[in-house]
Amino acid sequence: MTDEQVKFLLTEREVPTDWVNLLVDLPGEPLPPLHPQTLEPAGPPDLTPIFPMGLIEQEVSGAPEIPIPEQVREAYKLWRPTPLFRARRLERELDTPAHIYYKYEGVSPPGSHKPNTAIAQAHENARAGVRRLVTETGAGQWGSALAFACSLFGLDCEVFMVGSSYDQKPYRRSMMQTWGATVHRSPSTLTGSGLAQQAHPTGSLGIAISEAVEVAAGREDTNYALGSVLNHVLLHQTIIGQEAAVQMEMAGEQPDVVVGCVGGGSNFAGLSFPFVRKVLRGETKMRFLAAEPSACPTLTRGAYRYDFGDTAGLTPLMAMYTLGHDFVPPPVHAGGLRYHGDAPMLCGLVRAGLVEARAYRQNETFAAAVRFARSEGIIPAPEPAHAIRAVIEEAEAAREAGEPRTILFGLCGHGHFDLGAYDAFLAGELEDPEFSEQDMDEALAALPHAPALA
Ligand SMILES: Cc1ncc(COP(=O)(O)O)c(C=O)c1O
Repeated sequence: MTDEQVKFLLTEREVPTDWVNLLVDLPGEPLPPLHPQTLEPAGPPDLTPIFPMGLIEQEVSGAPEIPIPEQVREAYKLWRPTPLFRARRLERELDTPAHIYYKYEGVSPPGSHKPNTAIAQAHENARAGVRRLVTETGAGQWGSALAFACSLFGLDCEVFMVGSSYDQKPYRRSMMQTWGATVHRSPSTLTGSGLAQQAHPTGSLGIAISEAVEVAAGREDTNYALGSVLNHVLLHQTIIGQEAAVQMEMAGEQPDVVVGCVGGGSNFAGLSFPFVRKVLRGETKMRFLAAEPSACPTLTRGAYRYDFGDTAGLTPLMAMYTLGHDFVPPPVHAGGLRYHGDAPMLCGLVRAGLVEARAYRQNETFAAAVRFARSEGIIPAPEPAHAIRAVIEEAEAAREAGEPRTILFGLCGHGHFDLGAYDAFLAGELEDPEFSEQDMDEALAALPHAPALA
């Protein structure tokens, strides 16, 4: 056996004690969310019908760090700290001088990074006396994370699952039900928002969010939980990057480039924000690279505008790169990346040129995932397969330039419930839908008449 180290592991005592709040370090004033009817800045009172005050305070907090409650750290111990791997076999396969590291979040019980925030949100709602949480799920990862978290904190859980994922991943539904949740295929006939979208049977995250928000707003004992996009969700995920920074130190390296996939932006932010903060404070230099699907290319092709977070226009408007809130992306297998917008904090960083974005088609993405699985072993979820595609590009660029490069990427979930997608890829049956100019024109025409952004 060689001395080449592959895994960098931390002990339970090293689970971080605080979340990193990047909001305070971002250049300029944050752009406030707008009330969906008045288009005036929305304040905490506008959010109390669906969120507990503890999370609203985190959403707007001016503190650079926010302590993680002990009960949340205790629950994190079930799977955290997560391992950091050096992808030595992939490096050899790619014949690259680059050093490639990945932070693996697939070791959590539901199999992704999503419980990092699900636990924090369930805890805060339980503390506020809420009995029931309702949400949407795209890939099924967020829904299963919330179902798991609700089971730990004694809450009921109801999930609207995007139609295409409901059909592609029946066992994700079984997982949610095993943890005690009730699951509906979206668009459903249970809500006005669902009834209005029966012409789009594959569904979308935007439609499922409308359904969940509608249910939460209509019931006193029920709150809504969102698995991405909002500041407090990104905040909770920073536990990933903080652990990774310590593990990179153990490896004696510092990343030149940090790579992640982006659906709403939470795993990317979680891994990168602790590093972004160092860059914003002038302590170091680093590149950041966000990977998304060509079928839903928000960061690479979207318009930077105020838009609703959901299809029916029930949520506050946020300043973000958007393809239009009523855009229904093609039913690609990376269901978690089928969202029309992105986290405002991340969009601000892309706008400022600090984060670079690239879009990839399904087949090239799955080819990268298979290459990874055949060298490193882990079968990635289709979402982080986009990050792997970008990593391979970076590693090849390092080889062509003949220079060393340290790459850190987020392997935010495993693909054990996505094997139908792998089957389709291996059988050569996977399609490569792209976002067309016509899609773009329709998206722009559907944007609400909100204040323009500089
Ligand atoms: C495994 C996985 N990765 C990534 C995402 C995208 O979300 P985000 O960009 O918030 O990390 C999802 C969303 O469901 C997911 O399930």
